[in-house]
Amino acid sequence: ISKIAVLTSGGDAPGMNPCIRAVVRTAIYNKLEVVGIRQGYQGLIDNNMYDMNTRSVSNILNLGGTILKTARCLPFRTDEGMEQAYNNIKAQGIDGIVVIGGDGTFTGALRFSKRFPDIAVMGVPGTIDNDLYGSTYTLGFDTATNTVIEAIDKIRDTADAHDRLFFIEVMGRDSGAIALRAGISCGAEAILLPERATAIDDLIESLKAGQFNKKSSSIVIVAEGDKSGGVYDLAERVRGQVKFYDIKVTILGHLQRGGSPSAFDRILGSRLGFAAVNALIAGKSQMMVGLEANHIKLTTLEEALTQHQFKLEDDLMQMSEILSI
Ligand code: F6P
Repeated sequence: ISKIAVLTSGGDAPGMNPCIRAVVRTAIYNKLEVVGIRQGYQGLIDNNMYDMNTRSVSNILNLGGTILKTARCLPFRTDEGMEQAYNNIKAQGIDGIVVIGGDGTFTGALRFSKRFPDIAVMGVPGTIDNDLYGSTYTLGFDTATNTVIEAIDKIRDTADAHDRLFFIEVMGRDSGAIALRAGISCGAEAILLPERATAIDDLIESLKAGQFNKKSSSIVIVAEGDKSGGVYDLAERVRGQVKFYDIKVTILGHLQRGGSPSAFDRILGSRLGFAAVNALIAGKSQMMVGLEANHIKLTTLEEALTQHQFKLEDDLMQMSEILSI
């Protein structure tokens, strides 16, 4: 392998920049040429790439977002789009690619790599959703959870001052990972997740029990993908059933994706970027580098995708319920 490319794709995640930095510098240290692709797979199709050097990634460890930009690219799902990308890659003499992203990114990488196996592909799990098999943590999850915690702590202050009940929606279309961790960290009275149905009657009962136990505020964290009908609908159904003075709704939205990466995500990004380039040099392809039990582990992209559903830790859910009585 002599020339590699790096791209970020799908939803951005804090920690992508430290990872890009690690990829670029590890490649150059090993005498490889390295090219940055702008806007994910779209940049491959549009030939939007540039040569990177050690200074291209100076002072980016602390930056949120991604200096390479990102996109959710529909044309890459078509045969023509993939072919166009392949032709551009070949014309540049690139023989390996590091793709940083989530399940959509890996699905594209795997399809591409099966069709054009002469280009080695290495995935790095970069998504705030923490929902890829083969890595206990994905890039951005720690920072996003801390951002959510900071916001909910502030909401708790005002909820408590007014004796209010808040429904707070956090990100996670298919994953309750942020909701569960933030719920435990903020002492949420209830946590609603896509992986587990919650009966509205049970929710009302537990909120009533909280009032009976002299709680002056309550917080219900609802993951975006929860199937109860959305935060506003939930608030309406609970209104009048629980004698709080008032019920309020907050959707945290995209603020959860921004911000300077935490120490954890900077180190994770550095380790995974370093490992991804070393894996390409070792001749590996169609794999994802991850962290399990604090060790780097390679998982096939196939496995990372097919096993990818976030496994809800029932013990954490149960603990959270007990600790918030
Ligand atoms: O996959 C990361 C994520 O932030 C999800 O939690 C969320 O459902 C989705 O991306 C939002 O995507 P977009 O930024 O394209 O609206």
